Amino acid sequence: MKRVECLRGPAGDPEARGHAERLIRGRRAVRAFRPDAVPAETLRAIFSLAGSAPSNSNTQPWRVAVVSGAARERLADSLRAAHAADRTSVDFPYHEDAYAPAQLRRRSEFGAQLYGALGIDRDDHPARAAYDVESLRFYGAPHVAFLFVADRADARLAADVGAYLQTLLLAMAGYGVDSCPQGLLSFYADTVRGELGIEAGKLLVGVSFGYADRSAPVNRIDTGRAPLEATTTFHG
Ligand SMILES: Cc1cc2nc3c(=O)[nH]c(=O)nc-3n(C[C@H](O)[C@H](O)[C@H](O)COP(=O)(O)O)c2cc1C
Repeated sequence: MKRVECLRGPAGDPEARGHAERLIRGRRAVRAFRPDAVPAETLRAIFSLAGSAPSNSNTQPWRVAVVSGAARERLADSLRAAHAADRTSVDFPYHEDAYAPAQLRRRSEFGAQLYGALGIDRDDHPARAAYDVESLRFYGAPHVAFLFVADRADARLAADVGAYLQTLLLAMAGYGVDSCPQGLLSFYADTVRGELGIEAGKLLVGVSFGYADRSAPVNRIDTGRAPLEATTTFHG
């Protein structure tokens, strides 16, 4: 597909700027969905658009599995069975000590917002664990996409798939489709591969998607961001 020429000129295109602001700032993670399916042609348009993501030397090392209908039901059952049997398998190991104090503080603030909206006391670990199990049903979303890194669990390839992830989320937002990236799903990589008959690729993340249940309090949480100065330095 040809590149769209819409960003010419030193100040860019004000209309494009407005769209970018609305798309990027308007997207948010949604954790309660209506059961309505996204039409097949919309799915094709979204995933085709997401494929415009940038990657190192245009290698495009993503492999994407989109799961709906009966396959989604079977997968949700297998994930819950894997969870019950404590059968986790990760392609990208998770280290609790990966986070510095500033990140731990942000994570804790986010947790307070999320569990507050759910009416779960933050020290109520059984209730939090039960919510995690529930999330293995994709928060009720009718579709889930799994993003695999082709062949190797290499950090540079994974970064490309990260760029694909954000492009996909924005493409969905542009088509009025709500989403939630779920790192938790990547803790069951063998189950996902086995259920979908996939042999190659390392599972980075799953994305549940569909149309938000706007009445759910959990969908009203508004996550803030660190001030610009906390993350970005301008040199020169
Ligand atoms: C790689 C990645 C993994 C995530 N994993 C989960 C997850 O397992 N469960 C969940 O509910 N949200 C998950 N999220 C969503 C984040 O919690 C959310 O993006 C963050 O709190 C910022 O909120 P916002 O997306 O609404 O702006 C994940 C997001 C990313 C990018």
